[in-house]
Amino acid sequence: MATPNFEIFSKVERGPPDAVFGIVDQFNKATAAWKALPPDHPEAGPDHKPISLVVGAYRDENGKPWVLPTVRQIEKEMAESPALDHEYLKITGLPEFLPAAQKLMFGVKDETIASAQVLSGTGALYVGFSFLHKHLGCTTLMIPDPTWPNHPNVAAAAGISVTKYPYYDRKTNSVLFDQMYDAISKAETNTIILMHPCAHNPTGMDLTMDQWEKLASLFQSRAATSPLIPFFDCAYQGYASGDLELDAAAVRHFLALGLPIIVAQSFSKTMGLYGERCGCLHLKCTSKDIATNVTSQLSSFIRATYSNPPGHGARIATALLTDETKYKSWLNDLKTMTDRLKSMRTALREGIEKAQAELPEAPKERKWDHITTQRGMFSFTGLTPQECKYLSEKHHIFLTGNGRVSIAGLNPSNVERVSRAIVDAVIHAPKE
Ligand SMILES: Cc1ncc(COP(=O)(O)O)c(C=O)c1O
Repeated sequence: MATPNFEIFSKVERGPPDAVFGIVDQFNKATAAWKALPPDHPEAGPDHKPISLVVGAYRDENGKPWVLPTVRQIEKEMAESPALDHEYLKITGLPEFLPAAQKLMFGVKDETIASAQVLSGTGALYVGFSFLHKHLGCTTLMIPDPTWPNHPNVAAAAGISVTKYPYYDRKTNSVLFDQMYDAISKAETNTIILMHPCAHNPTGMDLTMDQWEKLASLFQSRAATSPLIPFFDCAYQGYASGDLELDAAAVRHFLALGLPIIVAQSFSKTMGLYGERCGCLHLKCTSKDIATNVTSQLSSFIRATYSNPPGHGARIATALLTDETKYKSWLNDLKTMTDRLKSMRTALREGIEKAQAELPEAPKERKWDHITTQRGMFSFTGLTPQECKYLSEKHHIFLTGNGRVSIAGLNPSNVERVSRAIVDAVIHAPKE
């Protein structure tokens, strides 16, 4: 008998680390190394404890994950409910969740919108892109430059290639609206145009309502002869302005014009349900009948990929959205989060400006006012890749290499250290 060969996987090459979770791994390793230091080591103290400003997940003022009190309360009630079981949900999710999620996003429940509960924002993007690829023959996705680094990965997984439109000018820290508009106006027919309706990740800079209206008119004017597909990725409703309605204004404007919008709606950040994978995909159709057809195709795709979505997060979100008292209490929780983020933005800007003024060798021309102009979970600081590397190597402060800081990782105990370290990086990191 020939020698058996069990090495069927030996030709598999190692894949690249994830742009965000790869740095989380580095942070975790640095934390383990710091914890293992002997107490008399010069770097054993709290001033050298690694700090993560990487992941867009809310942390409280002690740097700990925060379960929203309203969510905690609902979970208690669920635990005591004899009616609750662990049966499969429907393929398109918890039926009562879908109209509640529509109401939050669009301000109305609408039977001409095909909706399915999916695996949070990422799952909504994947199911949405796959649907557009299969049923509308879409082959290209246009994303802002820069954007969430996972957009190209999700598009590739759905068989779609990616092009970019200009979005942000690093020199002036502002949105390049004219260039964005121009690039979108030249996009090929049937291109999916991905837009962040609020709290753009990573820049924290959004279009004004006036600019959204101009963009919507462009989609309208192309609809007759060379349509584009408007796709909103809404992961931060409530985080930009602190107001759920205002943050949905762009989406609702496109809807009011009757445009065939698609929305990926995530509940990860707004309800702190990250690991529960709670989200929805919505597609605006022109009739209830067409929406039923679209839903049936979403169902077939979901059944073939992961069968049906998880129940826990959707039950929480439904309770929170459909009970008036719980809804009000959630608004309070949202306010707690957005107020803390705002105060940390201010503290970071002031901390950096103070350190810059105090250190004679700090270049005074570097400006930091954009930190407080930007909104949402992140600040796009303008730090260079070399400065980011310096921060992790010298100060054990971790952020993504594009200079994006998760404001949620800041708190009163670490913001001064981070501010001083940033100025040190500006002075001493190798120049580009
Ligand atoms: C812009 C954007 N879209 C989508 C997502 C996906 O989030 P999730 O899949 O956790 O809902 C994120 C998460 O960071 C994001 O920032």
